[in-house]
Amino acid sequence: MPVETIRWVGGVGGHIELIDQTLLPVEFKYIECRTTEQVWEAIKVLRVRGAPAIGIAAAMGLVLGVQDSTAQSFDEFLQDLREAKELLQKSRPTAVNLFWALERMERTALENSDLPLGELKARLLREALAILEEDRQSCRAIGRHGAALLRDGDTVLTHCNAGGLATADYGTALAVLFAAKEAGKSISVFADETRPLLQGARLTTWELLQAGIPTTLICDSMAAAVMREGRVDAVIVGADRIAANGDVANKIGTYGLSVQARHHGVPFYVAAPASTFDLRLEDGSRIPIEERDPEEIRRWGGRQIAPDGIEVYNPAFDVTPAANITAIITERGLIEEPTTGKIAALLENAEQGPFGRAE
Ligand code: MRU
Repeated sequence: MPVETIRWVGGVGGHIELIDQTLLPVEFKYIECRTTEQVWEAIKVLRVRGAPAIGIAAAMGLVLGVQDSTAQSFDEFLQDLREAKELLQKSRPTAVNLFWALERMERTALENSDLPLGELKARLLREALAILEEDRQSCRAIGRHGAALLRDGDTVLTHCNAGGLATADYGTALAVLFAAKEAGKSISVFADETRPLLQGARLTTWELLQAGIPTTLICDSMAAAVMREGRVDAVIVGADRIAANGDVANKIGTYGLSVQARHHGVPFYVAAPASTFDLRLEDGSRIPIEERDPEEIRRWGGRQIAPDGIEVYNPAFDVTPAANITAIITERGLIEEPTTGKIAALLENAEQGPFGRAE
């Protein structure tokens, strides 16, 4: 069973419970969020993280922002909603799921402007829960489509965490591994530790061990050597934003892995739902890349590991060109050797999203 990363407790007037992922793997603890500000903080410091989970948290955070609204008219209500939306938009810039979910929530409000405000609050909560439920189904479908790519006995290398902790169910990249295991295939994994915040070491290994999938933790710098030794059959990663041409933003280090995989003839797969595509962006050069606090690199485990004042560059994501990607695995099927045309063809009649599609 996947972990329940984020859940809504109660009806209108309720609150969010989410796993504080900054404490894993040492401590497994749910925290409560009762205000939009608390959700903003939880996203900002990565208590909740991973593109789909960030989108779900944002949608629920918007519900928190309006459920106590004392607005007397729809216009006043919309003002409260937009204030909450603006704050949540400032939490993290790269994962498009956050913006996609917030736009969808605002659109729901606008489409239901004739409802009494009490009913509109309930309608918005239903929409946030629908986003969660759809993500759950996407994970399962991604798993099914991706599992067919793996053979019994394969070893997969993955980076960061694109598992249950990053989604509403059992992940995107890790969904492929879980589904392959369910289909009776024996799969083993190399997990990159993923400097500087160690999502691979702390979260991916934690999930894979619980699922009984043999996993070996390596430092990021070891991936090329392991590929050269012929020990990797496929690389599978998640995504934070995919441009219209198939360029993919994902955790820093992903681009390097794609170059190494290409050099060694190892297939490189990206697993992501339609909500991670941003069709407004022609290519990956315009994807906003989050830069994080230099202290994440100057210090480690509470200890200083670099001289005071050393200049640091800390981008949290990089962009992998579509040309390095063997296939994108979506809930609607595979996009092999992705191009603008193939992506548009697969997503144009998707029920929800992707971001930037003409409605
Ligand atoms: O900084 P994070 O931990 O939010 O980064 C997460 C990733 O890069 C994941 O690979 C991506 O969001 C996909 S999660 C299904």
